[in-house]
Amino acid sequence: MAHDADVTFEELVARQKPGMSLEQPFYTDPAIFEREMADVLPGQWLYVEHTTTIPKKGDYVLYDIAGESIIVVRGRDGEIRAFYNVCRHRGSRVCLAPQGNVRTLTCPYHAWVYDLEGKLIHAALMADDFDPGDWPLHDCRVRVWEGMIFINLGDDDGPVADFDEITAAFERYAKPYRLADTRIIHQETYPTDANWKLAVENFRECYHCSPAHPEYTTVNAYVNDGDRDPETRAKLVEDWVTEWESKGVAACDLRNWGDLLDAIQPYGAFRQPIREGSWTLSQDGQPVAPLMGDLKEWDKGETLLIVGPLFYIYLANDHAALFRFTPVREDHCEVVVTWLVRDDAEEGRDYDTDKVIWMWDVTTIEDTKIINDNQLGVNSRRYMPGRYSEREYGTRNFIAWYLNRMGAQGVVSPVVGQP
Ligand code: FES
Ligand SMILES: [Fe+2]
Repeated sequence: MAHDADVTFEELVARQKPGMSLEQPFYTDPAIFEREMADVLPGQWLYVEHTTTIPKKGDYVLYDIAGESIIVVRGRDGEIRAFYNVCRHRGSRVCLAPQGNVRTLTCPYHAWVYDLEGKLIHAALMADDFDPGDWPLHDCRVRVWEGMIFINLGDDDGPVADFDEITAAFERYAKPYRLADTRIIHQETYPTDANWKLAVENFRECYHCSPAHPEYTTVNAYVNDGDRDPETRAKLVEDWVTEWESKGVAACDLRNWGDLLDAIQPYGAFRQPIREGSWTLSQDGQPVAPLMGDLKEWDKGETLLIVGPLFYIYLANDHAALFRFTPVREDHCEVVVTWLVRDDAEEGRDYDTDKVIWMWDVTTIEDTKIINDNQLGVNSRRYMPGRYSEREYGTRNFIAWYLNRMGAQGVVSPVVGQP
């Protein structure tokens, strides 16, 4: 559905009201999706995969996002590089299989051959004045942090988020978990028939947890803490924080997304207790894997690191769940969840995959359903923007940030509250 041709894009953005969901075209119009992919996405560091996905020389994995395809490959020297999956001859995709091991990157169309550093090393029957050195694959920026590979689709001369600033802010919370020294025990893709912003809006609020997630609500005490009076709640949190600080645990509270409304890639983090008597995010609260990394004791907390709108790291003491959101089309996106435990843990002896993945798997299946139903309602002629509740502050901040990035002037919504 296209937006009303009488309204310019700038007018449409300018008339959105902070504190409310967006007008229909933002969730349905391919032209707006295209604009987002051109103006909002580039410059952000996008999580691709864990480094253990491509452990050997010549291993590669593709990351497809909104029509782009990026090859992330480990070279002969062990370095990870990224290239646009676009042949410099006539533009064919070079790699077709989503993952593999290769000696060279060879285009299936006319067999131009690139080495793993992207250099063109063979092109048959070209004229004498053709210099292969002029035709390397297009580079894509890539960085690795704590075993996680990120790419950036920003242009060479365009603005790019400061990767070092973001990862430095997370360092004290993430480091003890040693996410590089982990193994993937499960990865699940949840295809979602909805605009990517509906999926992100959903993920950033827990107003829906009680009605939509019975399992998650049983595990996470904070969901119903909102029913307690603010003073009792503040006291509970203070007691936990005091205990954590006395043990040298970083009592993380980096909820500064609201202060970063004009950042290319806002980030934030928080840490909270799970529930009295629970050690981790499992069905019965009992540990489901060995303590991660350098952790020496259980602190019964969970940490969330928010790396822009499209990547989230949930840390329990014994496992991590990585959430990657990928816009595909205006009406389709994909959520991939990857579960990690320490790399020397053995299935059967130290962990049972079903128990580790239970909460996030059941919760994400439920989320996919409510997000799809949300899109169906938004498609109606009768849909109009609705008010966010006090408890949807994370969603409000996301939308305020989004409108800023889309060019709206003076949007403020730096609301901080309880999750
Ligand atoms: S398009 Fe790749 S070799 Fe022709
Ligand atoms: Fe949810």
